[in-house]
Amino acid sequence: MRVGLIGAGNMARALARGWGDPVVCSDGGSGRAAALVDELGGSEASNLEVARDADLVVLCHKPYQLAAVAGEIAGTARAVASVLGGTPLADLRTAYPDTPVFRLMPNTPVEVRRGVVLYARALDIDPELERRVVALFSRIGWVAAIEERLIDVGMALSSLGPAYLSLVAEAQVDAGIRYGLQGDLAGRLVAETMAGTAELLTARERDTLRLRREVTSPGGSTARGLDALERGGLRAAFQAAIDRVAG
Ligand SMILES: NC(=O)c1ccc[n+]([C@@H]2O[C@H](COP(=O)([O-])OP(=O)(O)OC[C@H]3O[C@@H](n4cnc5c(N)ncnc54)[C@H](OP(=O)(O)O)[C@@H]3O)[C@@H](O)[C@H]2O)c1
Repeated sequence: MRVGLIGAGNMARALARGWGDPVVCSDGGSGRAAALVDELGGSEASNLEVARDADLVVLCHKPYQLAAVAGEIAGTARAVASVLGGTPLADLRTAYPDTPVFRLMPNTPVEVRRGVVLYARALDIDPELERRVVALFSRIGWVAAIEERLIDVGMALSSLGPAYLSLVAEAQVDAGIRYGLQGDLAGRLVAETMAGTAELLTARERDTLRLRREVTSPGGSTARGLDALERGGLRAAFQAAIDRVAG
């Protein structure tokens, strides 16, 4: 399946690096498309050329540019996958009538092929096209279909997660540095621990309570640390963060 990217910003770059193939992409004039082509091979193109060339056009511009870009390529694009935040399928169908459309929500770890890609699709999508789109994105992460009404809350966990978890990591690194750890070492300790914990949680079927109990002795240092995090409002802070997006 030949893929074309409209936009060459953060999300387009993460997707293209994850796939690792020569890329056909456009931009709004910044030169980022040329930089991506320098890195991965392929060709920079106009929006219309991208649409002509591709079996699947992936919209990686900003949400407010939907109508302007559709004005250039609707009718030419054979199938469209949008990663535009907060842009419902109904708006995509209005912008691209008579074109199969998918609404996808990837996260930036697609760049290292450990992404999460949520998707909702229009009801009349050809199952073979859906299979090919799912296969394409499965190369760069775990792909899950989700009811469209839940895509924002799903995104609050997966697409915003890299930023939230980076903040959690940074807070721990800063705390370690205050007690004398070198920044590089502290950063590695935290990142490796996050990666290992993610693997272990998967092996434990995501049973977080079981995993916590395995490392928490009554009255011990983990118990005291967890108590400090609870009293510091960690749960309430994450709830508030999700309320801002999905509430
Ligand atoms: N970042 C994330 O983690 C994430 C996650 C999920 C979904 N998304 C969605 O991904 C989309 C892009 O986000 P981003 O962070 O990658 O933004 P970004 O870095 O600002 O990239 C946007 C890209 O769109 C290009 N563009 C603007 N107008 C255009 C036009 N008329 N024709 C073709 N290309 C045009 C820009 O061109 P220039 O380079 O010339 O400015 C830029 O390359 C957004 O809709 C966002 O909601 C992002």
